[in-house]
Amino acid sequence: NVVALIFAGLAYLLGSLSFAVLVSRVMGMADPRTYGSGNPGATNVLRSGNKLAAILTLLLDAFKGWLAVWLGLVIGPGFGLSAPGVALVAVAVFLGHLYPVFFHFKGGKGVATAAGVLLAVQPWLGLATLATWLIVAGFFRYSSLAALVAAVFAPFYYWFGGGLAWNVDPALLLALMIISALLIWRHKSNIGKLMRGEESRIGRKK
Ligand code: G3P
Repeated sequence: NVVALIFAGLAYLLGSLSFAVLVSRVMGMADPRTYGSGNPGATNVLRSGNKLAAILTLLLDAFKGWLAVWLGLVIGPGFGLSAPGVALVAVAVFLGHLYPVFFHFKGGKGVATAAGVLLAVQPWLGLATLATWLIVAGFFRYSSLAALVAAVFAPFYYWFGGGLAWNVDPALLLALMIISALLIWRHKSNIGKLMRGEESRIGRKK
């Protein structure tokens, strides 16, 4: 319906704000698409050596995912946005980050934005997924590997948490599966590097 399309369109535009590029620009730093992995994301901004810029990128990219879904859940119903509409909003903000209209459709891999989406869907779901990321990152020091493992677990957490802490919405479950699948797809080059033992560890320049 029209309401869902308007919400999803706005979510896509919000997702299109690539904060890795914007934060770097505002802070007078090099464009993250020109160094390291070339990915506009917090992990790559950290390779610049500027921790504050990386943290701001992480927080703002997560915040946009959170905000889109939160608005869909809180003010959406007042406009007649249904549960499948919220699921569409979640996918739309994520797609904005991956394929941003403001940056020639060349965006990031969606880890921070997906975390924001999960936190808005259900704080416990978001925290469980973040904990998964932290455990894997703590052991192996690979941001990409941590994201891949967390992405595999997130839809299961949502599914199994249903009945315990929340009601599982089938449309949202599908949205989370789509988001995880796209996130994994966007990590193709990382998967190759991990298998060849060439992936760079968190905070390393190379
Ligand atoms: O946030 C994306 C991360 O999982 C991998 O980033 O720059 O190492 O490809 P990067």
